[in-house]
Amino acid sequence: MVEIKGLKKRYGERTVLDLDELSFSDGETVALAGANGSGKTTLLRILAGLIEKSEGTAKAPGSVLYLPQQSYAFRGDLVRNITITGAGKQTAVELLEKLGLSHLSGKKAKSLSGGELQRLSLCRVLAKKSELLLLDEPTSACDANGAALVIRAIRDYRDSCGCTVVMSTHSPMLAVNAADRLVVLENGKVEANGTPEDILSNPGIQWAKTFTAGWKI
Ligand SMILES: Nc1ncnc2c1ncn2[C@@H]1O[C@H](COP(=O)(O)OP(=O)(O)OP(=O)(O)O)[C@@H](O)[C@H]1O
Ligand SMILES: [Mg+2]
Repeated sequence: MVEIKGLKKRYGERTVLDLDELSFSDGETVALAGANGSGKTTLLRILAGLIEKSEGTAKAPGSVLYLPQQSYAFRGDLVRNITITGAGKQTAVELLEKLGLSHLSGKKAKSLSGGELQRLSLCRVLAKKSELLLLDEPTSACDANGAALVIRAIRDYRDSCGCTVVMSTHSPMLAVNAADRLVVLENGKVEANGTPEDILSNPGIQWAKTFTAGWKI
C-alpha cells in the first residue's frame, strides 16, 4: 500500500510535484502518464527513497525495487549483469528466456541494442522480490514484440508476489494492457485518475487527446 498526502517537491522557487491525496493498493498495477516534465520520475524517485520530498507524506512499503528511466549495463555477459544483484544463475537464465534474450546470454551486455538493454535492466530488477515495484518507462525503447514480453513479465511478477506496481509511461499500449489504473499528471498535479480505457476515450483530457486527434506535424 502506498499513501500520498499533501506531497510536494520543489526545486528552488518551482514546485514540480503537488499531490493532494493518492493511494495505490496492494496487488494493484498503476500507470503514471503525462507530458515530459510533468513529474512522473520525481514521484517514482521519492517513493524509491532516492530523493527527499519538500512537504507532506509518501508512505511506501519497506522493500522497494526501482527501474531507472536510463538503462545501464555492467561489464561482463548478460547472466553476470543479473547475478550481480545476488540472484542465482538459474533465476537469471529463466528471466533472460522470459524477456526474449536467451540467444544473447553469453554476449557482453555493453554491446546490446537499446531495446535489448532495457529488457536486461528489467531482468536485473525482477530477479528479486519486493512489495513495491517502481518502473520508469519500462517499454520506452522496446518494439511491439519487446513491449509484449515486458508486459507479460511485469504481470507474472505481480501475480507471483502480490506486490504493488507503479510504472510511468508514454505508451497507451502499456497502460491499457498492463495497468488496472491510470493516473495522468500535468505540471505535477493529478489531471485524471481512472481506468486506462475511460481516460483514453475521454477527449477532455489533454494527454488522451494526443493519441486520438490523429496528430500530424
Ligand atoms: N534536480 C533537479 N533540479 C531542478 N529541476 C529538476 C530536477 N529534477 C527534475 N527537475 C524538473 O522537475 C520537472 C519534473 O521532472 P520529471 O523528471 O519528474 O519529469 P517526467 O514526468 O519524468 O518527464 P519525462 O517524460 O521527460 O521523463 C521537470 O521540469 C524537471 O526539469
Ligand atoms: Mg521521467
